[in-house]
Amino acid sequence: FIPPASGGAGGGTVAKNELGNDVSVSKFLDSHNVGDRTLVQGLKGDPTYIVVESKEAIADYGINAICTHLGCVVPWNVAENKFKCPCHGSQYDATGKVIRGPAPKSLALAHANVEDDKILLTPWTETDFRTGDAAWWA
Ligand code: FES
Repeated sequence: FIPPASGGAGGGTVAKNELGNDVSVSKFLDSHNVGDRTLVQGLKGDPTYIVVESKEAIADYGINAICTHLGCVVPWNVAENKFKCPCHGSQYDATGKVIRGPAPKSLALAHANVEDDKILLTPWTETDFRTGDAAWWA
């Protein structure tokens, strides 16, 4: 994994909270538990889950919350450790890989990197690490 260069021609966006403010990574980590998946506004304003990987770090990928079936926002189900779409029952594992239809594809990914205590989301155009396939959304 090679992180995208900061400030490059990446078309990145800084993750924002529900109020439209930039997410502070330090505050975010203080107020969430390891394993949490929390929605922010990501690329193109798409609802995107940020994953708390440890007390000190978020995962280096964000998970686009838009169901690949018909576009509902898919909630995270803590008890079952998966994403479950309320619209037609599709399910995705903790990384957003589809495990039950009718959704045809896994949830899209974005790169998530920390810069100046902010989360910079950039397009994920490489291979989907969950499936080994090309990124269908790129
Ligand atoms: Fe998610 Fe249909 S929109 S299962």
